[in-house]
Amino acid sequence: MSNSAMNDKPLSVSFSDETLALFEKEVVKYPTERRQAAVIACLTLVQQEHGHVSSESELWLAEYLGMPAIAVHEVATFYNMFNLEPVGRFKINVCTNLSCQLRGGQKALEHLSQKLNVTPGHTTADGLIRLEPAECLGACADAPVLLVNDTHMCSFMDNDKLDQLVDALHKEGAQT
Ligand code: FES
Repeated sequence: MSNSAMNDKPLSVSFSDETLALFEKEVVKYPTERRQAAVIACLTLVQQEHGHVSSESELWLAEYLGMPAIAVHEVATFYNMFNLEPVGRFKINVCTNLSCQLRGGQKALEHLSQKLNVTPGHTTADGLIRLEPAECLGACADAPVLLVNDTHMCSFMDNDKLDQLVDALHKEGAQT
């Protein structure tokens, strides 16, 4: 039984021709019987187009890659770079793992929480910034650290630098 048949509802999710071509580009890197090895790359492309990975996208990808939907979901939920619901334009992941904790990681998260008036795991009322705690980001020597939009690492984040970051994101958000 196919994944969509299991779901019993036609999938309403769709992707641009450009994204569909990129899916194919990832899939052909692997032998046909191993096309599911492209799942992380394809999830990344899903998020690039839609901003998050919906359960419908997971089902679509499961069909496309010929793998169980639960296996796609397991990958999507294992890596915290995948957003499972719409997030703000900017996502800030603050490391609260041990090395960062010892050098103010939790305080950095609390400072941002107060400044943005949002609890961790949520998005600001204006939809601009999502605040999330994170596990070790692999830059312990620079603690406390945070990651913006899964790509931009910020090091030694004291309160002044946190304030500057928030101001810069607000400014960028207002420009576009
Ligand atoms: S503990 Fe924060 S980067 Fe490793």
